[in-house]
Amino acid sequence: MATPSRSGVFSKATDRRVERFTESISFDHRLYAHDIAGSIAHAQMLAKVGLLSPDEAQQIETALTEIGAQIAAGEMPFSIELEDIHMHIETALIERLGDVGRKLHTARSRNDQVSTDLRLWVRDAIDRIDARLLDLQRAFVERCESDRDVILPGYTHLQRAQPVLAPHYWLAYCEKFERDRRRLADCRRRVNICSLGVAALAGTTLPIDRHDVAQRLGFAEVANNSIDVSSDRDFVLETVFCLSLIAAHLSTWAEEWILWSTIEFNFLTLPHDFCTGSSIMPQKINPDVLELTRGKSGRVIGSLVSLLTLIKGLPLAYNRDLQEDKPQLFDAVDTVEICLELAAPLVAGAKLNREAIRARLDRGHLDATTLMEFLIRQGMPQRTAHHLVGELVGKALAKGCRLADLPLEELQSSHPDLDSRVYDILGVEKAVSAFTSYGSTAPREVERQLQYWKAKISPPPAPPSANPPS
Ligand code: ARG
Repeated sequence: MATPSRSGVFSKATDRRVERFTESISFDHRLYAHDIAGSIAHAQMLAKVGLLSPDEAQQIETALTEIGAQIAAGEMPFSIELEDIHMHIETALIERLGDVGRKLHTARSRNDQVSTDLRLWVRDAIDRIDARLLDLQRAFVERCESDRDVILPGYTHLQRAQPVLAPHYWLAYCEKFERDRRRLADCRRRVNICSLGVAALAGTTLPIDRHDVAQRLGFAEVANNSIDVSSDRDFVLETVFCLSLIAAHLSTWAEEWILWSTIEFNFLTLPHDFCTGSSIMPQKINPDVLELTRGKSGRVIGSLVSLLTLIKGLPLAYNRDLQEDKPQLFDAVDTVEICLELAAPLVAGAKLNREAIRARLDRGHLDATTLMEFLIRQGMPQRTAHHLVGELVGKALAKGCRLADLPLEELQSSHPDLDSRVYDILGVEKAVSAFTSYGSTAPREVERQLQYWKAKISPPPAPPSANPPS
């Protein structure tokens, strides 16, 4: 079984070790459906411009569809002698159609072929990841109703800072994943460009129609410069960058929930079907899904670094090094996809330990900044108020009490202008209600955010199908 890429110039068969070293079929078989779609579009275009007869194009399309079904059923044996998925499919086509099959590779190289296959594959992957991100956003938004009244300590430096509403926390994650979705959508525009027809690197002397192929494959644009296309993997790198940031966001969420599910925090009980046990300590309920979500982010970031290193020393145009892009891309997509798939039900299934959270909410003087702002509203300069409240916190710490528990005489001994109205804003509930600014944790603002998200994630009902297309 000689590979069709080995022309008459060779005087010897390929060394077996070289075949093992250079093959990519062991991983690029995943491109088969996109390779077939690209080949069918190419054949149809060749027929349109007269490089194939309509009958030849039809025979090729039928045979390629059958080959696709054969691969899908796991019935095509893969062999390293045929190097990659492109050679396997072309060889199978030639076995079926003889000379007609030998015409498919007219005005095409594997360089534009693999680039096209990858673009089609990445485009689908982006759409799947986007749908998973939306599922995760939905899980957070759905929690907001049931956790509406829960106040959590907000942290900076992992030290208690100011009180926040639980939905405000959940919607903070929605914002991060929304930026991830927008980044993917923007990246998708640069993925969705047609490479086919640049041939090896310089184009072709044959009368092809690149815009026709692009249209058949749903690409929005045709790439401009054939040398660039032959060498370009920016779209792979950019996608893996987007995935790295998603993985990093998932990792920070996982880290937070691992902490929150400890006895030390005791904010959260994780769903048991998303936890694992210990082989020696019978009491353990371990957050392994969250730990591996955090851990696997390292693989995705590793893929990004590998890819940057892969391309940085390559002269124009195609170099075989580029074959190494696929294991990294596939692994990054698979990893982020499974992490997202597990994250949504985990978010939906976790329970806030309301009693335990409430019982310790008075610790950490979460209302200190609210008191400072109360004094500012009374006309005190910020720095003076900051210093004064620091003193009051010192007094509360010495007594082991809340700011709200300091008697009025004690407050007034620090500053004579303080009157009993301060008690209207002290205590976490009152402190939360005192917020007013846009995007803050003020109940009205959180409600506004929630309405925005609810409208955003539940798409409007589809228009009736009877409507004629406008
Ligand atoms: N397996 C190769 C890759 O993934 C396909 C392109 C091969 N092109 C070539 N000129 N040898 O990059």
